[in-house]
Amino acid sequence: FAESPTVGERKQVDNVAHRGATGYAPENTIAAFDLAVEMKADYIEIDVQRSKDGKLVLIHDTTVDRTTDGTGKVGDLTFDQLRSLDAGSWKGEQFVGEQIPTFEEILERYHGKVGILIELKTPELYPGIEEQVAKALKERNLDKPQNEKIIIQSFNFESMKKVNDLLPKVPVGVLTSNRADTTAEALQEFSTYADWFNPSYGIVTEELVNQVHSLGMKIGSWTVRSQEAADFLFEMNVDAIITDYPDYVDPRN
Ligand code: G3P
Ligand code: CA
Repeated sequence: FAESPTVGERKQVDNVAHRGATGYAPENTIAAFDLAVEMKADYIEIDVQRSKDGKLVLIHDTTVDRTTDGTGKVGDLTFDQLRSLDAGSWKGEQFVGEQIPTFEEILERYHGKVGILIELKTPELYPGIEEQVAKALKERNLDKPQNEKIIIQSFNFESMKKVNDLLPKVPVGVLTSNRADTTAEALQEFSTYADWFNPSYGIVTEELVNQVHSLGMKIGSWTVRSQEAADFLFEMNVDAIITDYPDYVDPRN
């Protein structure tokens, strides 16, 4: 039997920079994504939402209040209003002037350089967002992932079923922190359309990892903010670790 690839003592695990290298730079900004690439992450994770006038933008919360100098709901603000906000200075003076990126500019800037784990954040607020994301990927020939590392994930399972229908060749992931989603029945149902089962690390067990693998899915877990959490997930034999600190997952450290 071929053994699974190892680096040093550890199995090769995808190092996914959660909203970019968020431990060191403002989440969901080019500063955080560039740093993740510099830190040799395998993927950047991005949160996609939509402006009032229909532009796909990257931001985690459904309001701009925490991560910008503005206030209000993402979906109530036009793209020009969102773009005029400072999305960096809350994290430190050196990040003044970072802007909310668009989904399309991030595809252009990073595809082929680093994998992109695309999260549709609260897609129920943005009817038709799945078709819009599919269109942006198809226009760039990114819907045939044989030579591109693109994954789409969400906490909204209906949305992921839809994405699987629209983009049958792009791997889909389901996100949960709910133990009720780890029953044999639930996992079996996910495996009918999902390629990844991505739980918070608090509900990860060896048994869960084995069940997910035996259904032919991979497992990526989040959000690592300590070396201990990263080490726990290495021990659990997960396939991807989603982390604010890519250095905690780097086998060279
Ligand atoms: O990629 C997993 C993680 O991003 C899910 O949680 O709230 O950080 O988007 P959240
Ligand atoms: Ca996310």
